[in-house]
Amino acid sequence: MAEVRSLGYVIVSSGDLDAWQTFATDLLGLQVAERTADRLRLRNDDKIYRLEVVRGEAEGVTVLGWEVNGKAALEELALRLEDDGYIVTRETTQTARDRGVSELASFIDPDGMRIELFYGQMVDKSRFISPTGAVFLTGDGGLGHVFQLVNDEEPFRHLYLDVLGFKLSDFIDFGPIQGTFTHCNPRHHSFAFAPVPNAPKGVGHIMFEVDDIDIVGRAYDKVLKEKAAPLALSFGRHSNDQMLSFYVNSPSGFQIEYGTGGVLIDDETWMPRRYDVPGFWGHERQLPA
Ligand SMILES: [Fe+2]
Repeated sequence: MAEVRSLGYVIVSSGDLDAWQTFATDLLGLQVAERTADRLRLRNDDKIYRLEVVRGEAEGVTVLGWEVNGKAALEELALRLEDDGYIVTRETTQTARDRGVSELASFIDPDGMRIELFYGQMVDKSRFISPTGAVFLTGDGGLGHVFQLVNDEEPFRHLYLDVLGFKLSDFIDFGPIQGTFTHCNPRHHSFAFAPVPNAPKGVGHIMFEVDDIDIVGRAYDKVLKEKAAPLALSFGRHSNDQMLSFYVNSPSGFQIEYGTGGVLIDDETWMPRRYDVPGFWGHERQLPA
């Protein structure tokens, strides 16, 4: 069965590209791949970009780009989505090239987020060089993970697990709210979601993982000492993926988790789990909920 393989790119709408550029380069260590008046593209590995910020009135994530492993997989997933009632658009070659991929299909998720499925992502001829010396853990695990706040969990469970082929990693009970964590590669989760009433829906955070605790620590210092970004959750270790991380508010308001040490899982042996806390220590909320 064809399935999604990794998180390939994320597209954000923002009115402040300058703030995004400073935040992404100075704090996160992403490299500017392209900067025009209306578009900022950022790399964290050999791909031509992983995060794109497009000038717009809305603030937040507007597109999730999920990688599949070829044309047949793309078509199989498109047909499966259509069987499920989704309207799938096979995008033009021009649109695909602009995204930096070989072929692209899109649909709208149950809460109105644009989802793109693609294969054949463009590799940059120049070497990735982080302005902070960060080395990001990507590869088979994709650019990182996203956590989406949703209206109802069942349509998302069905879409991601039954249709797109993600596997269950575990659940976390956030009080009465259940968070569902799913994987599509060895990264513990690439997509997580939770129905959170009275919160804006959409991507709540994107996680970038680096290979070195000192890179995380130096970034944390920039937040604490230089106020590089508003701290959202203090340094801590997550219960389920064991990520050592902190969270800041991005210039668009949603959060960025920046961490290291996340577990890798093996689908042959992994058994889904359940936790009643998101962290073993730390991750104290710093901003009003
Ligand atoms: Fe996370």
